[in-house]
Amino acid sequence: MATKALILSGGKGTRLRPITHTSAKQLVPIANKPILFYGIEAIREAGIRDIGIIVGDTANEIKAAVGDGSKFDVKVTYIQQEAPLGLAHAVKIARDFIGKDRFVVYLGDNLIIDGIAGFVKRFEANKPNSQILLAHVPNPQNFGVAELDGERVVRLVEKPKEPKTDLALVGVYMFDETIFEACEAIKPSWRGELEITDAIQYLIDRGCDVQFQIISGWWKDTGKLEDMLEANRMLLERIEHKVEGDIDETSRIDGRVVLERGTVIRNSVLRGPLIIGANSKIIDSYIGPFTSISYSCEVKSSEIEHSIILENSRIVEVRGRIESSLIGKNVVIEKHSQLPKAYKFMIGDNSRVELF
Ligand code: DAU
Repeated sequence: MATKALILSGGKGTRLRPITHTSAKQLVPIANKPILFYGIEAIREAGIRDIGIIVGDTANEIKAAVGDGSKFDVKVTYIQQEAPLGLAHAVKIARDFIGKDRFVVYLGDNLIIDGIAGFVKRFEANKPNSQILLAHVPNPQNFGVAELDGERVVRLVEKPKEPKTDLALVGVYMFDETIFEACEAIKPSWRGELEITDAIQYLIDRGCDVQFQIISGWWKDTGKLEDMLEANRMLLERIEHKVEGDIDETSRIDGRVVLERGTVIRNSVLRGPLIIGANSKIIDSYIGPFTSISYSCEVKSSEIEHSIILENSRIVEVRGRIESSLIGKNVVIEKHSQLPKAYKFMIGDNSRVELF
């Protein structure tokens, strides 16, 4: 029986608002590629071709981006979740899709830089009821936390106020069909969700074989801005230099950069690693390390570093350097020359602007 995969891409992206007010958090690009695509590629590299994707309010956007999966050489089946009722709820509604197969659950906002192939291979060889991935983290209270006794997992607690260990549950889990019984049996948690953490605890309590693996490679739950920027930095550190744009003689490029088709660079300094998307223009500007600029953007007489800029945005004559920022789609930041000399804003709900 082939292993299947279930990607959880519903839910609400409250922590990345306003970017995720209208868009799926799993589609926010890192190094100009949606987070979700890294997950699909990791699953494909682990040899899994049959993928179910749980979608919620942002279903249309996710379907438009991923399609039937053929561009990733996988087959995608969409499963609609009526509300974000929890990870175990999402697993529960995938029962028809999974059938009797063993499967991987991959949280669509997680990024595991070295992929999951080794993890899947071990699961297929050992055939436990469940296999979880753990990582040492500095802030375990923000995750599901595991307590171990030698080679055994004894307890899993979702976001404990006083964590007993620093071992967080990474957003990739493997199961056989016993998990469905657990998802049916558990009750909603204090936050009103059916927690996958509780479902796995149910398996442990009934003596099922729950194995774990501690990952040493880099991993991130990209829910927050700082995590997003760090993920962007990690991925840009690995890019290969590729220039398809048009650069004039007065511009200078240091380090590894990716300039996609149709980019225009005039009288600017680009210091990699960085990526600039198709048809973007950089004029009289400095673009510094760890910056991802999406397609059809314009940066003029400005300086940007360690930031993510989404498509169709314009940044013109901004005096100070823009740093550690996430700028949404179709945003305009520009100098105006009328009086009074004042800041003028039109900023959406839940935005954040820091001035010096
Ligand atoms: O990132 C790892 C952590 O993920 C684990 O340590 C926690 O134990 C686990 O509960 C989970 O915590 P989060 O609170 O970060 O999960 P979040 O609500 O962000 O949801 C993760 C993904 O699953 C995200 O892509 C949205 C999707 N989702 C979420 C819910 C609640 C669904 O598709 N349906 C849902 O009902």
